[in-house]
Amino acid sequence: MSDTYVPDSKRYDTMKYNRVGRSGLKIPAISLGLWHNFGGSDSYENMRKIVFRAFDLGITHFDLANNYGPPPGSAEENFGRIMKHDLARYRDELVISTKAGYLMWPGPYGEWGSRKYLLSSLDQSLARLGLEYVDIFYSHRPDPDTPVEETMSALDAAVRQGKAIYAGISNYKPDQTEKAVTILKSLGSPCLIHQARYSMFDRWIEDGLTDRLRSEGVGCICFSPLAQGLLTDRYLNGIPEGSRASKAGTFLKKEQVTQAVIARVKKLNEIAAKRGQKLSQMALAWVLRDPVVTSALIGASSPEQVEDDVKALSVASFTTAELGEIEAVLKN
Ligand SMILES: NC(=O)c1ccc[n+]([C@@H]2O[C@H](COP(=O)([O-])OP(=O)(O)OC[C@H]3O[C@@H](n4cnc5c(N)ncnc54)[C@H](OP(=O)(O)O)[C@@H]3O)[C@@H](O)[C@H]2O)c1
Repeated sequence: MSDTYVPDSKRYDTMKYNRVGRSGLKIPAISLGLWHNFGGSDSYENMRKIVFRAFDLGITHFDLANNYGPPPGSAEENFGRIMKHDLARYRDELVISTKAGYLMWPGPYGEWGSRKYLLSSLDQSLARLGLEYVDIFYSHRPDPDTPVEETMSALDAAVRQGKAIYAGISNYKPDQTEKAVTILKSLGSPCLIHQARYSMFDRWIEDGLTDRLRSEGVGCICFSPLAQGLLTDRYLNGIPEGSRASKAGTFLKKEQVTQAVIARVKKLNEIAAKRGQKLSQMALAWVLRDPVVTSALIGASSPEQVEDDVKALSVASFTTAELGEIEAVLKN
């Protein structure tokens, strides 16, 4: 790849941008997460290609967390390197997020939800990213032992200090969300967005969370919309070398790729084919079918996957019959 990256001048022509809840911010219907494939032993050239392809296709939102790698912190370092060398002049065209909540360093201040941990972690993230601020700073998970008032006060402080533009929460259950949203509102740094796992294979947010987000005017960005690759053609004929399930230390284990799962995936694949799209594209269109979902947050191991996934937006609507067919497969 040539050393100087010049973004596609048509990058804003086809991507759909959705308003995040009742905020002033819009993010792309498909966003890119750097949880996997951006770590210390991954190919830096491949990372650049993935990020450039995404930006060329209008993906302006890149999602990180302090612990992405492995090792923890390396995804922020790698993205920071790309920012510095290739994307610095496009900073104002990008929405970059990071989070704190999971284990980052030893001792009592290296994880969970204290003000001490969140604010020092954000400083570390900014140093690794080489940025003065992130656009969204998230509490990555609720902390059962820290008052939610304290965790939210840290997000509010980050915004007031100019180190984050917006505050977000991730993995909070409906009741915890309601509390967090109320506190952030009272502090004057409203909750922009909730980042939650959602796919055809994991529908917990339908049970009370989406209704609350809708009524509070908070956005919703859904992670692992492809169930980490299960809802694609990746595993239709076994577990290919280099896939997430083939690698050690990932959260998609070989044992999860069961015959029962693949039988279901094959049925969904047939429905997608009848709609004239790939299963991955139907899976993304499906999470976006409820307008409360602002963006589907994908991961990718190649630029071709990003390209493929963005095409989901060209066959985005469903007939009642199609939704019924999908429901029947999922309930079976
Ligand atoms: N807040 C949280 O707690 C939390 C937790 C998890 C994730 N996240 C965020 O969500 C992002 C996405 O999560 P995820 O990576 O699990 O999402 P995902 O989109 O469900 O899975 C991504 C994987 O699916 C496969 N894939 C993608 N497009 C494909 C295509 N067109 N054809 C075939 N396979 C395809 C690739 O697998 P291969 O690698 O096998 O090629 C890719 O790595 C993360 O990067 C992170 O930013 C947040």
